[in-house]
This record gives sequence, C-alpha cells and structure tokens, in this order.
Amino acid sequence: MKKITFLSIVFSILAVGTFMASCSKSSSSTPAPKPTLYDSLGGTAMVQDPTAASGTKIEAGRLLIRSIIDSTIFVIAGDSRINGHFTVLLTEVGMNNLTGFEELSKNLTDFVAVGTGAKDYTYGGLSMANAHNPATNPRMNGKATNSDMDAFEADLVTGAGKNGVTTSNQALLSVAAIVESLRSAVVQM
Ligand code: HEM
Repeated sequence: MKKITFLSIVFSILAVGTFMASCSKSSSSTPAPKPTLYDSLGGTAMVQDPTAASGTKIEAGRLLIRSIIDSTIFVIAGDSRINGHFTVLLTEVGMNNLTGFEELSKNLTDFVAVGTGAKDYTYGGLSMANAHNPATNPRMNGKATNSDMDAFEADLVTGAGKNGVTTSNQALLSVAAIVESLRSAVVQM
C-alpha cells in the first residue's frame, strides 16, 4: 500500500513535468538559466551552519539536504525493518565512534546535492551498485530487497518531515522521483 502511494506520487510528478514541458513556449531572447532542483532546495545562498562555529557558512541547499539526510539516518537507525543492514555503522555509533556516520552523511549529502544540480560539490563515494553490494561494500550487511527500498523511501519522507518539508513540497517529490529511479541499482536480488 505504501509502495503504491509512493509510486503514484512519483508518476504524478513525472506526468505534471511532461505536461508543463509540452506547454512551455520558446522565447526569442536568451533564456535565463533554468533554476535547478538544488536552487529550489535553497541553492547557493550562504547561511550560517547551525552545527559549526559562528561565522561558518554553508550553502542553504546543502544545509537543507544535509539536515534531511541526518534526520533520515536517525529514522533508519530506529527502523527495525531495515536497520539490520546498517550494523557496522550502528555498532560504531554505539561505541561513540562517529567517523562512519560523518562519512555517510557527507557522501549522501554530496550525492543528493550533485544529483539535484549543485555545482560546488562532487560525489566521491561508491557507485550505487557497489555501495549496495556487500561484496564491494562490507558496510552493507546483506542485499536490499524491494521492501527495504520502500521502507527507505518512507524513512526519507519522515526525515524530511522532521525538517518541516512535507510531501506538499514539490522539490521533495522531485527528489523522491530521483531516489525511486535508482531502485534497480540498489535492489540487487
Ligand atoms: C535510492 C536510494 C538510496 C541511495 C541514493 C543510497 C545512497 C547511498 C550512499 C551515497 C551511500 C554511501 C556510499 C559510500 O560511502 O561510498 C550508501 C551506503 C549505504 N546504503 Fe544506501 N542508498 C539508498 C538506498 C539504500 C537502501 C534501501 C538500503 C538498505 C535498506 C541502503 C543501505 C546502505 C548501507 C547499509 C550503506 C553503508 C552505510 C555505512 O557506510 O555504514 N541504502 N547509500
């Protein structure tokens, strides 16, 4: 039921996007650069990083993405449907070792930032296929199933909600569509 709801949201976005694209008129003047999804998440405006010393700035788009990612990691940590895949990470955190958490937060934030159009960051982590194959990423405890992916997507929506971003936010729906498009790379069984 959850999957149908999520997928129907995704297909609705794609349908609206296609409709809007077909309705757009071409202009004879040079068009302004099209705002990216990253722009609608806050873009490159520099704001105070709430987790760093006063005066430390961060792009508003990156801050929102990082906040949602970090909240989502905490939601996943408490989600018995899928937290068994994260035993390496959770064991480290249980021993007050945040190195793996910080690296995962950075990699996921870079991944989503770049995927939504950020120009000032690069993703240096594993490919989606290698990140989710225990043979190439020993931090991944067992391959993910379609149900795991459904739970992950639901947890992402919950994580976004913890930052005041709900499914009435078009940008979140667009991120959800990107995430769903990666299902076949993540689910390898
Ligand atoms: C489209 C959805 C997903 C995206 C975009 C995504 C993205 C990522 C990224 C960027 C990494 C870090 C790779 C690296 O450090 O090189 C990662 C690691 C990982 N992912 Fe995913 N992931 C997704 C879905 C899932 C699902 C459904 C599961 C299992 C329920 C999962 C479990 C893991 C685990 C266990 C790790 C290793 C965490 C660690 O570093 O300890 N992911 N993922």
